Amino acid sequence: MATALVTGGAGYIGSHAVLLLLERGWNVVVIDDLSNACEESIKRVEKLTGKSVSFFKGSILNEALLSEIFSAHAIDVVFHFAGWKAVGESITKPVDYYHNNVGGTLALLHVMKQHEVFRLIFSSSATVYGDPEVVPITECARTQTTNPYGESKLVIENILNDISALDSRWAFAVLRYFNPVGAHESGMIGEDPNGVPNNLVPYISQVAVGKLPVLKVFGDDYDTPDGTGVRDYIHVMDLVEGHADAWEVIKRTAGVHTFNLGTGKGYSVLDMIKTFEKVSEKSVPYEIAPRRSGDIATCFADPSKAAEVLGWKARFSLEEMLRDTWRWQSKNPEGFK
Ligand code: WQD
Repeated sequence: MATALVTGGAGYIGSHAVLLLLERGWNVVVIDDLSNACEESIKRVEKLTGKSVSFFKGSILNEALLSEIFSAHAIDVVFHFAGWKAVGESITKPVDYYHNNVGGTLALLHVMKQHEVFRLIFSSSATVYGDPEVVPITECARTQTTNPYGESKLVIENILNDISALDSRWAFAVLRYFNPVGAHESGMIGEDPNGVPNNLVPYISQVAVGKLPVLKVFGDDYDTPDGTGVRDYIHVMDLVEGHADAWEVIKRTAGVHTFNLGTGKGYSVLDMIKTFEKVSEKSVPYEIAPRRSGDIATCFADPSKAAEVLGWKARFSLEEMLRDTWRWQSKNPEGFK
């Protein structure tokens, strides 16, 4: 069976990808600097699957460590999740974000080339679209970014396109995530943000479990049905399925293959609160607060290209996404700590 190197494999999405790959018989190697993850997630994935992972603690900026990994394992493909993803933080630490995200990816590509490994699946983001001119958003939509986090994703996409245009040995899948939420049905792994969550769903679940007192709804005066922000939330298990399907394409076709991974449906903040209260039977107190700078009104995907080319379609409903979030949060009020 094939061998995958999963960068950031101890993180929220990375750990779910590791679980899926192990369940499908892959050999899995993980590198993670644990700056935004706990090794406990890997231990739980090994327990859930009865399989073991070769884990290396370290940064993808460390080319010597990467070279050691590629020398010790016959890597067929890299699933590249490692990267920092907090929009607000990226505005206060632009150099760190470009160094970690772009510099780390360049180090990874450099070592892959040295070891003649030319297949990579990249965790990109719908944030590369900025404030979309048209919704639903297709992969041909204009890209424009409004913060160093989003720009780092777009810069990496451009690097992959340039490399592929000049060297036909390379094959890349660029997967533009919309809003990943939810958790594996076991409730043993899930999203465990450092400190106070930036994102809506982990914030809601921490209010529901009593860790936070109240949710601030960032603006109710957007041009949307109920005035609050509309986003395309997608179950993390649907998301990682898309990665396995992308491998089926890049293992036989060179070039860059870019896909939106979203459900194609948008839900507002108030929809999310109401649905979460329904599935958790917990109340989520909230108050209307001013808009968050950089936020947009509406963002949701046209996922038809992934359906046509990958045969991939999101399966989980919003209730299932939030039910699985709640199972993880209620079983792990303090996350992995
Ligand atoms: C969703 C909606 C907020 C928190 C960002 C990144 C994106 C990806 C996902 C990494 C918006 C509202 C939120 C809160 C709120 N990150 N909200 N109160 O901003 O769509 O996307 O995270 O891959 O790249 O840009 O996600 O969950 O922060 O916000 O009212 O406490 O919830 O205004 O309308 P976002 P989010």
